[in-house]
Amino acid sequence: MKNYLTLSPEELATEREVLETAYERVKRRHLSLNIARGLPSSRQLALSDGLLTAVTGDDTKSESGAETRQYGVPDGIPEAARLLARIAGTSPEHVIVTGTSSLNTMYDALSAAMLFGSCEGGIPWCRQDTIKFICVVPGYDRHFAMTELFGIEMVNVRMTETGPDMDAVETLVRDPAVKGMWCVPKFANPTGVTYSTETVRRIASLRPASRDFRIFWDNAYAVHDFIGHTDLLDILSLTEGTENEDMVWEFVSTAKITLPGGGISAFVSGKNNLAWFRKSMSKRTICYDKVNQLRHARFLPDEEALKKQMEKHAAVIRPKFETVLAAFDRDLAGTGIASYSRPTGGYFISLDVLPGTAGEVWRLCSEAGLTLTKAGATFPYGKDPDDRNLRIAPTYPELPEVEAASEVITLCVRLAAVRKLMAERTSNEKSVFGD
Ligand SMILES: Cc1ncc(COP(=O)(O)O)c(C=O)c1O
Repeated sequence: MKNYLTLSPEELATEREVLETAYERVKRRHLSLNIARGLPSSRQLALSDGLLTAVTGDDTKSESGAETRQYGVPDGIPEAARLLARIAGTSPEHVIVTGTSSLNTMYDALSAAMLFGSCEGGIPWCRQDTIKFICVVPGYDRHFAMTELFGIEMVNVRMTETGPDMDAVETLVRDPAVKGMWCVPKFANPTGVTYSTETVRRIASLRPASRDFRIFWDNAYAVHDFIGHTDLLDILSLTEGTENEDMVWEFVSTAKITLPGGGISAFVSGKNNLAWFRKSMSKRTICYDKVNQLRHARFLPDEEALKKQMEKHAAVIRPKFETVLAAFDRDLAGTGIASYSRPTGGYFISLDVLPGTAGEVWRLCSEAGLTLTKAGATFPYGKDPDDRNLRIAPTYPELPEVEAASEVITLCVRLAAVRKLMAERTSNEKSVFGD
């Protein structure tokens, strides 16, 4: 592809005409496409149909002998704890099995920290002056929305190819007002970055000024490789027995392994944090849904079953990512106006467009019948300072729609860029020659 940044004014004008015509043609197709949220497709949902019959009326007991239809066993049944520990890459004694959503578990942990402090004897965060969270950007919009709801100030730290910019993180945690940091350590939403060994080690050995500082280690995509296998260090084993033993709260779920909204999730940490979490949990609920825990444990009883399930997801997902990336490579590579991630797992592709045009690309797509995650959503307060990042979520639609959506995206990225470049040139000329 031609580099748009080096085109002459005449070449830009010709390109613009071509793109405007193509855009009008797309609009006339009255498309209705959605590539906005990271949802599994219906083919993926069907991969977990075995769950629906995994527990029957005459076989509802856990291996521990507990009746799963009854109250009790607030920490969760052992076979479910084993499954979630396997996903987190840790051992079951670090696990409290929670409800159907890890986001809910994060919210519960955050609200307990706000109301009662993040550790035994800690001062409730809501009673401290300004409190701040480190937010790796671009990142997960729901983390940011939750943090904003609690009135916590968010501080952006740039994502690099190996994880968060650790020099910035190490400096920021010297501020006692910094109480938390959101991390999606494997196949981060939306960049697809997995934190390198060095990054995980540096996080594990941070020196925060506040004893009640907590890392929210949202390991949502722990086993969600769709090409090969990417390793992530187990941060809990790095912090165990050190002065940072209580610094990390890990969260996992089966949302994108079995059923989103209907999976099982966990709070995963060391013994002090588990005791701290249990304290508010035991007032909040008598126990979580153990029938759901049992059917998950029976459906995915061992490492092999989990691996097979994820391979089946990968087979459905992989071609969709390949389709988007093929369109991006064809239409955007070498143009100088876009760069994008090439993930090997997770649910998203991060697309950076010409600075100052992400909102316009979103608007153009929307007008052409394609819903994208709102521009800015991958940043705290919905504000992308460079108006540059867009999150692409290709898993939900079927392949033909993914293909059609990718074409609309690349067209809109180019059109918005050409319009902006032409407008800039015009205003530069005006300022050179005076008005
Ligand atoms: C990083 C991240 N964390 C958590 C979730 C939600 O997980 P759950 O359904 O277990 O609440 C998602 C869903 O997209 C996610 O991307």
